[in-house]
Amino acid sequence: MRVATLLVLAVAASAAASDADWWQTALIYQIYPRSFKDSDGDGIGDLNGITEKLPYLQQLGVDAIWLSPIYLSPMYDFGYDITNYTKIAPEYGTMEDFDNLMAKAKALGIRVVLDYVPNHTGNESEWFIKSAQREAGYENYYIWADGTPDPNDASTTLPPNNWVSNFRKSAWEYSTTRGQYYLHQFAIGQPDLNYREAKVQEEMKNVLRFWLDKGVSGFRVDAINMMYEVDPNDYGGVYPDEPLSGDEDAAADDYNYLSHIYTRDLNETYNVVYDWRDLLDEYYMTDGEYKIMMTEAYTELTLMIRYYGTDTRNGSIPFNFSFLENIKNNSNARDMKLVIDKWMTYMPNGKTANWVNGNHDQSRVASRQGSDRVDAMNLLALLLPGVALTYQGEEIGMLDGEVTWEQTVDPQACNTDDPINYWKKSRDPNRTPYQWDSSAHAGFSTTTGDTWLPVASNYRTLNLAAQMAAEKSHYKFYKDVLAVRKLPAVRAGDLETTVISESVLVVSRLLPGYPGVVGIVNLSDEEYHLDLTSIKLLPVQMRVVASGVDCPHKKDEWMRKSNITVTAHCALLLQTVRKCC
Ligand code: GLC
Ligand code: MG
Repeated sequence: MRVATLLVLAVAASAAASDADWWQTALIYQIYPRSFKDSDGDGIGDLNGITEKLPYLQQLGVDAIWLSPIYLSPMYDFGYDITNYTKIAPEYGTMEDFDNLMAKAKALGIRVVLDYVPNHTGNESEWFIKSAQREAGYENYYIWADGTPDPNDASTTLPPNNWVSNFRKSAWEYSTTRGQYYLHQFAIGQPDLNYREAKVQEEMKNVLRFWLDKGVSGFRVDAINMMYEVDPNDYGGVYPDEPLSGDEDAAADDYNYLSHIYTRDLNETYNVVYDWRDLLDEYYMTDGEYKIMMTEAYTELTLMIRYYGTDTRNGSIPFNFSFLENIKNNSNARDMKLVIDKWMTYMPNGKTANWVNGNHDQSRVASRQGSDRVDAMNLLALLLPGVALTYQGEEIGMLDGEVTWEQTVDPQACNTDDPINYWKKSRDPNRTPYQWDSSAHAGFSTTTGDTWLPVASNYRTLNLAAQMAAEKSHYKFYKDVLAVRKLPAVRAGDLETTVISESVLVVSRLLPGYPGVVGIVNLSDEEYHLDLTSIKLLPVQMRVVASGVDCPHKKDEWMRKSNITVTAHCALLLQTVRKCC
């Protein structure tokens, strides 16, 4: 008993010691609450399910969890359509369950980061209902516009302009209550807020304060670059049509049909992010724990890095989606080096890098790149400088599940109206339930009915329990790599990426005065014998600390830098024993 108490104190003390800089090297584990763990047998994951699995995440070594939206919502877009930002969705639990989750997480030294969805609310939001009714003070909370006359039918109108939703078709929906159209850059149930209205800015700051007061450690900010649309006052009182993009693959009602010069990446966006940073810093000043803010914008690199801040203002950590967008299943070591070096080159000096291997909107690493690249991609994300993001299930190399048209629920897929090609747009396959073990529903749920999305059929062999029991597995490799993330060389060492051959990339992290670490990934079907003497600062002898599923090496085995064998698809992590350089 005494020993246990001491241990808990030690954990708490070490967390406190790093409160100021915890975020700079954090491993943030994304939980999609609907699909993580169902505690009450309704086939839907929930907060108590997450709480139940916190010890798993702690022993894995995660620093923080980011929860996709847990708020009251009709779930048209599974929680990204929020009715009330400060209430919990009943199917996920209660505020008491949330407080309990926070307390347990804190006791285990795991920080909690929430999803913040500023671009739009849900159409059941009180703000939206009031705005539709033109209730005093709420008139301008959303983007409203008159329709244009329909030349063929005087009794009706057409949408204000040609803008298209990210989920296909017109971005405008008519409100009979108001007699005007509202803008929705995503689903019809997701009306865009109007950030030119000062009250909206204040309301949304209060949302941040509400959760910060509850002790969260920061936010992931949703769809940030959609936040502003042009001001109609600058365009003769109307929202102007967007020009065509020229994309020949896009149909007229596809998002990519237009060039979104009036609806995304507007300059005004950045200042709002910097204002939120100031707000978060007020809390940091008070309690000494830095609050992380990560922003989601799928956009050009130069626009993305502006979120980091300016000479005079601090900003966010913009998600680095280059692993998702620029590394393909046939990318070689040179391609990967360029992707890594590019971010490091464009990132402003002194800022924190980050590496995203997946999320709830993207096909999984194993499906995108092949299961034989899971260890390599996890190794890179965990070994490179800065924040690493792991989407639930990537630590075991889960594959996208199979979801039929009948089972499809993702609005982006449903909106295709296409029972044959819907899967090209569907995010359901990467949201199938976490595969805990080989029992019914993969241990995700005890329901006697269906789970909200089907469990992937491979769960009997591909599951956490099996990987924990196996001598080698993606899980064991991931955990071994994560275990060295706290070493000074991984936290603060210099980064060197070296292409040894077309298929072999070596990533070293060396810090004078400390043992260094070296990651090696072989992306090909062939075995290579490497001589790393060209990497001058590496000592002659190194020890294996993590050995991927396709490597014969054992942990603690010694290697000489002039003679290293890497088998096909092997991902290896070595540690130097001698202090570096
Ligand atoms: C973000 C979310 C995505 C959601 C969209 C609208 O891209 O990650 O899941 O559908 O925003 O909120
Ligand atoms: Mg449930």
